[in-house]
Amino acid sequence: MRVLLTGGAGFIGSHIALLLLERGYDVLIFDSFANSSSNVIKRIENFLDNKALKYKLRVINGDIRDKKILESIFSKCVKENKPIEVVIHLAGVKSVVESLTNPLYYWDVNVSGTLNLLLTMKEHQCYSLVFSSSATIYGLSSYVPILEEQKISPITPYGQTKVAVENLFYDLYKSNVNLWKICSLRYFNPVGAHPSGLIGEDPKGIPNNLFPFITQVAIGRQKTLSIYGDDWETKDGSGIRDYIHIIDLAEGHLSSIDYLNTSESCLEFINLGSGKGYSVFQIIRQFELSTGCRIPFSIESRRDGDVAVSYADISKAKRLLSWTPKRSLEQMCLDGWNWQMKNPNGYG
Ligand code: UFG
Repeated sequence: MRVLLTGGAGFIGSHIALLLLERGYDVLIFDSFANSSSNVIKRIENFLDNKALKYKLRVINGDIRDKKILESIFSKCVKENKPIEVVIHLAGVKSVVESLTNPLYYWDVNVSGTLNLLLTMKEHQCYSLVFSSSATIYGLSSYVPILEEQKISPITPYGQTKVAVENLFYDLYKSNVNLWKICSLRYFNPVGAHPSGLIGEDPKGIPNNLFPFITQVAIGRQKTLSIYGDDWETKDGSGIRDYIHIIDLAEGHLSSIDYLNTSESCLEFINLGSGKGYSVFQIIRQFELSTGCRIPFSIESRRDGDVAVSYADISKAKRLLSWTPKRSLEQMCLDGWNWQMKNPNGYG
């Protein structure tokens, strides 16, 4: 089965690519490399020492907003008699803070880009899609654990773009309920790395997210972690999130493909998280305990766009996808640290 994986060179995409290849899929990675490194591809190829698997990977450099290149990819696959059967769409921009200062860019890449992709898929009769949505769409959710039916109220432009795409899926599905098969996966906070230490998270510039910031403090690339608020309405005053091991998250995508393959037609919005909430202080403590590193921190004021508590109810994913997250917070810390130690400067 041939899969188009947009954004396949990124943190999440590279881990999905590896699992897909190991499972024997033909994988076309489509990535602009705007926020990822081409070294990722070499790492994936090196990992797949088995040549047969290696030759199932093809990489195309392009922007999701460029419809012509998307059309040429789909057409070429048809000519090769190996049409794209399913798309995993991750290509997009994802900084909550950046989206507040540059909303047009976020709408352009995340919404127009997805529209291009859907138009091209339709033109080529490809109707199966797994999409990277985000827990950020729940905004200031009124209760936890968060269920998929909960009110959608994004508080940032980034969140708005994810909601816009989900609404588009809804219209599309309603227009012909016998056609489309779509799983929109609402990610919570993916962390950790592949246990080999060959691929992992390598944010450009200063990390926005907690976990890569901690590993960079541990390796000496950053001096002190800023904790954005110790006055939240939580037990210890720091923000609570649902951290999920990147391999568990990647496995959720493969389970989604299996689900789509056995479905007539569907549109499902599904939370992917661990189902557990940990505070910033708990994450620091666990990281220090698991790795023996010390993480100096200072308390700063709250960050724009943050919420106090967010963690998922994952019963729908368990039920529909027969998927369950298996890796502990300790494993997330150990694998994330293993990656950072083996790659102090990321992909270089
Ligand atoms: N935090 C710090 N210091 C930092 C970074 C983060 O204290 O340097 C805190 C935040 O305030 C928050 C927690 O750590 O309480 C987690 O923050 P992250 O930036 O790691 O993650 P977010 O939950 O803010 O956002 C992430 C992704 C978003 C996605 C969201 C879904 O970055 O793209 O999860 O819930 F939308």
